[in-house]
Amino acid sequence: MDNEQAGEYMSKKILLQMKNIHKSFPGVNALQGVDFELFPGEVHALLGENGAGKSTLIKVLGGIYIAEEGEIFIEGQNVVIDGVNASHANGISIIHQELVLVPHMTVAENIFLGREPGKGGFIDHETMEREAGTLLDDYHMSISPGAFVKDLTIAQQQMVEIVKAISYRSKYWSWMSLPPPYRIKKWNSCFRPCVC
Ligand SMILES: Nc1ncnc2c1ncn2[C@@H]1O[C@H](COP(=O)(O)OP(=O)(O)OP(=O)(O)O)[C@@H](O)[C@H]1O
Ligand SMILES: [Mg+2]
Repeated sequence: MDNEQAGEYMSKKILLQMKNIHKSFPGVNALQGVDFELFPGEVHALLGENGAGKSTLIKVLGGIYIAEEGEIFIEGQNVVIDGVNASHANGISIIHQELVLVPHMTVAENIFLGREPGKGGFIDHETMEREAGTLLDDYHMSISPGAFVKDLTIAQQQMVEIVKAISYRSKYWSWMSLPPPYRIKKWNSCFRPCVC
């Protein structure tokens, strides 16, 4: 990188910054003063041996674990991520390595779990299935929104996870160790992924 390129790079705004993150579990210091920066358009691969703390770092970002020390900045603003909702509210979506879908619910119900469209105090299943269908079509996924997750292949279930993450219209996505078949043909224009 020459000086001009370096200057251009540094003048870009940091979208996401994690500073001096510490997280421990009984008997294990999983993260000790970890720093991470994400600039516009960047894709990162976080590499490390088993138990190095990759998932822990991403779970801190996703509000699943709360760091004992450290700060998180989003577009320069110091934010508190003290739970999954706070993470979503700050534009972060995580696609987990382990599937976290409910097998006995439909694809649409899983995508909109906890934020189902309502009508007259009831869940509006028609709207939910239509919107889920539109999202699946947009990303060229031939999965029925009314299908039960338990009847899908693992690859299809992972695709539903991806569509669910996209449906939050987040600015930052974190993928945890996704295996190869998960290619998506159309991306949201504000897609700023981070692969971990
Ligand atoms: N919920 C937990 N309770 C106790 N210890 C945990 C917990 N989660 C992670 N750890 C420990 O924290 C350390 C970091 O684990 P982490 O899962 O973040 O590693 P990783 O880099 O993602 O590993 P892998 O490559 O196996 O996915 C490990 O020693 C792990 O045993
Ligand atoms: Mg991991």
